Amino acid sequence: MSQLTENNAMGAESTAEQPMLKLLNVESAYGPIKAIRGVSLQVKKGEIGTVLGSNGAGKTTILKTISGIIDPRKGTVEFKGQNITARDPAFIVQQGLSHVPEGREVFPLLSVRDNLLMGAYTRKDSDGVAKDIEAVFGYFPILKERAAQDAGLLSGGQQQMLSISRALMANPDLILLDEPSLGLSPKLTKEIFEIVVRINRERGTTILLVEQNANMALNASDYGYVLENGRIVMEDTCARLREKDDIKEFYLGMKEEGMRSERRWKKKKTWR
Ligand SMILES: Nc1ncnc2c1ncn2[C@@H]1O[C@H](COP(=O)(O)OP(=O)(O)OP(=O)(O)O)[C@@H](O)[C@H]1O
Ligand SMILES: [Mg+2]
Repeated sequence: MSQLTENNAMGAESTAEQPMLKLLNVESAYGPIKAIRGVSLQVKKGEIGTVLGSNGAGKTTILKTISGIIDPRKGTVEFKGQNITARDPAFIVQQGLSHVPEGREVFPLLSVRDNLLMGAYTRKDSDGVAKDIEAVFGYFPILKERAAQDAGLLSGGQQQMLSISRALMANPDLILLDEPSLGLSPKLTKEIFEIVVRINRERGTTILLVEQNANMALNASDYGYVLENGRIVMEDTCARLREKDDIKEFYLGMKEEGMRSERRWKKKKTWR
């Protein structure tokens, strides 16, 4: 049964264009430490959204709050129009939202294939599961070669591939990706980002990616947010963000006016 809700407070878009994910004024804390404050963001169906931010900005906290690992102090999280704020993580996975955590947590003593099957534990359609195993082997052929090997024996990059693949095995509508580039070589990072974009284009999976690697994230994504000290300080299409001087200087390491910029950053807080 469809329930049309009045969400004028959440913006003027028509309900026909309902975003896949919507955060409104979310605040999460660890004891007395407020990690994110007043975070509002959206990811449209079929798009790749990104949150850029440096160490400790609050990127992981945003993803943990979405997937129910942390309950927010304030604000709401909506997924496919449903309020999932502070719901149980298992419930949220069942709704079609998978989280690839920071530092790619694979089960080291399980085989690669069993790790993949763990990602599909909520599914009843064994044909679909078998098909999706073949699909992830298509994206990451090395996982097929290593299917019987313990996941703990994989390299860091291969574990990242497995972690993404395990999320895919739930056949999700939305994947949260926490810094897939962490600890990987530029070449491997590029390969993984290319596959992430293919997954988005070919399967239509919506993705929210958080990254310190702004270059990769801005090239792969449609819409981006800049997070600083737990607050969103800027948002725009990635095409436009790539052209902004602040982003070029601070995140992409491109300086047009010489040496002054680095210094200025320390003082200047206004994002334009
Ligand atoms: N378990 C925790 N207990 C206390 N404080 C925490 C905890 N986890 C994170 N924090 C703090 O919350 C803030 C945001 O952390 P978070 O991990 O979300 O940042 P991040 O953007 O993911 O950083 P990184 O790029 O290093 O992964 C930081 O100040 C961090 O020190
Ligand atoms: Mg993090």
